[in-house]
Amino acid sequence: MKEANQPIGIFDSGIGGLTVANAIYNQLPTENIIYFGDTAHLPYGDKSPETIREYAYNIADFLLEQNCKAIVIACNSASSHAYEALKEYIGDQALLINVIDPIITALKSKKYSNVGIIGTRATIGSEVYQNKIAAELKGVKASPKATPLLASYIEEGFFKKPEITQLVLKEYLSDPVLNDIDVLILACTHYPLIKKEIDQYYDKKVDLMDNTKIVAKYVQELLAKEELLNKVYSDTHHFYVSDYTSSFEQTAKMFFKQKIKLELFKG
Ligand code: DGL
Repeated sequence: MKEANQPIGIFDSGIGGLTVANAIYNQLPTENIIYFGDTAHLPYGDKSPETIREYAYNIADFLLEQNCKAIVIACNSASSHAYEALKEYIGDQALLINVIDPIITALKSKKYSNVGIIGTRATIGSEVYQNKIAAELKGVKASPKATPLLASYIEEGFFKKPEITQLVLKEYLSDPVLNDIDVLILACTHYPLIKKEIDQYYDKKVDLMDNTKIVAKYVQELLAKEELLNKVYSDTHHFYVSDYTSSFEQTAKMFFKQKIKLELFKG
């Protein structure tokens, strides 16, 4: 039986998912968060589906041990390859949320005709976004493009150098496959950090959608529906990583928008 005062577990391959954690933290200030960044296995975007699933099972075990009422897969690569398997694995022990379905639902209320998608090789190669758009958004074209360099580029902090960022973005976004899109989905939880630069590239002629606020709202609606919204404010959050370096701690600040203390959990 799930209780409202149990924490929400959130995980990603590393610290990129902190963009989603931050949106949840802002949207649901009375919820307690347990974040797990699998920094020992970063990046997921270049791993096989089997390996990504194996990592996801282990993290789910950890988050269930922490008594989480809900688990948010704050990673597009893991949402693409591990959501269905994980749903079966955890059963009704906790609610399970991926970062893809809320975006597809949000697209239904829009009038876009050509949806661009950028993400890791794992996310784009899984064709999950493409298949869901084909199945749920009749007549809408999906235009996918893998942008494998971007996540590590962002994590290294290079995006703070505008001239290099514009070059890297031009290389990827000028691909003809993305011609004529009217919206671009930032299908990697790292990409909100370069949203401004992508907006500049398109000179605001293309709308941008990322998973952060849309997923946070979805989590709120789901918890409300299940009568699991926490009413008691205790501000207890934990941020675990499977490998620790001081550079992760600095980067974490960038993604969560405030300083947090990372704790090491090797499993
Ligand atoms: N944050 C991950 C995602 O949303 C990408 C980083 C990685 O490749 O591990 O797909």
